[in-house]
Amino acid sequence: MKKTVLVSGGAGYIGSHTAVELVAAGYNVVIADNLSNSDRSGVEGVRRITGVEVPFVEVDCCDKAAFAKLFEQYAFDSVIHFAAFKAVGESVADPMKYYRNNLLSMMNVVDLMREYGRHNIVFSSSATVYGEADELPVTERTPRKPATSAYGNTKQMCEDILRDAVAAYDGLRGIALRYFNPIGAHPSALIGELPRGVPQNLVPYITQTAAGVRECLSIFGDDYPTEDGSCLRDYIDIVDLAKAHVAAIDRMVTGDGENYEIFNVGTGRAVSVFELVRTFERVNDLSLNYKVAPRRAGDVVAVWADTERANKVLGWRAERSLDETLRSAWAWERYVRKL
Ligand code: NAD
Ligand code: WQD
Repeated sequence: MKKTVLVSGGAGYIGSHTAVELVAAGYNVVIADNLSNSDRSGVEGVRRITGVEVPFVEVDCCDKAAFAKLFEQYAFDSVIHFAAFKAVGESVADPMKYYRNNLLSMMNVVDLMREYGRHNIVFSSSATVYGEADELPVTERTPRKPATSAYGNTKQMCEDILRDAVAAYDGLRGIALRYFNPIGAHPSALIGELPRGVPQNLVPYITQTAAGVRECLSIFGDDYPTEDGSCLRDYIDIVDLAKAHVAAIDRMVTGDGENYEIFNVGTGRAVSVFELVRTFERVNDLSLNYKVAPRRAGDVVAVWADTERANKVLGWRAERSLDETLRSAWAWERYVRKL
């Protein structure tokens, strides 16, 4: 019988792509989202791509009583918990908003899983937990650094909540996936990233500049101690990232592994800001308006993943090339802007 997975935050960027890959892998999916940073188009896109009328429940995971109804209605045994706020700068300006939403929703998921006898949780963690790491690439054993934002702190705290809950409560299993920099869109261009307001992340800023919505991309710093002076990141394709969630669910459903596990989800390749911009221009045959600007406060110089554990243990590896990914990012922007 098909197993069911609850995808909290499934109307959003990573959740919608993951819902598609779960359906493709033979899972039933239920999407829960309060649409605080998304809209129904994400769910509609999932339905169009899969041809399946994936159920959607509009609910705030922080509202435990309302969230509990979903556990009564659907017999899922696994949850992928994406629902969280994710804007680093906003979290510094309004930390309580982030602690309340990200911690409470996580605690409600864990409590309800126990109350309703459900077993498997995948948590959306982030490479932000490594901060400015002392060793590169970072492995899952590389020590976490004290968080420099409330957002980053919620990721560390939620990892710890999951670790402690799994250690204490029989039957509960957890996997924390530490995503590096997710970029790109589904090849159909029916789902993708929908930033509200001015994009804070590099690729949406690039695509909006190419579309003429933003005048000029600022490259934050060309005087870092790297080959070309710009920062290095590990940009992971969104479909590859979505597939890592399917691998994590498969692993828990089949009962393999430890009760609590952590995996880096990246490509293992460091790409500079200049290289990313140049690749975007080349694969999409356009020229981008950009300038060099001062460094952005809080940026780490370089971080990229050692992916050996995910490759060997999870049996997952990133497959799409940066060229393909940056083509998909531009196709999505054109679809959104009707260009
Ligand atoms: P997103 O904002 O597109 O998706 C998150 C979804 O959760 C949104 O649809 C939002 O409406 C929903 N949501 C937020 N709070 C909720 C609540 N209390 N109840 C119900 N729904 C709620 O963001 P995303 O990029 O898809 O990120 C998904 C997860 O991955 C987040 O936990 C984020 O912190 C994590 N993550 C993202 C990145 C990244 O760069 N995008 C990197 C590392 C980790
Ligand atoms: C990438 C590079 C910028 C915008 C953030 C979060 C992290 C994680 C992923 C959730 C950096 C440069 C950017 C611009 C630029 N999210 N840049 N001009 O900062 O690596 O990670 O998203 O967990 O927690 O901090 O990603 O896309 O913002 O920046 O030059 O307009 O692009 O300086 O070197 P970042 P990003």
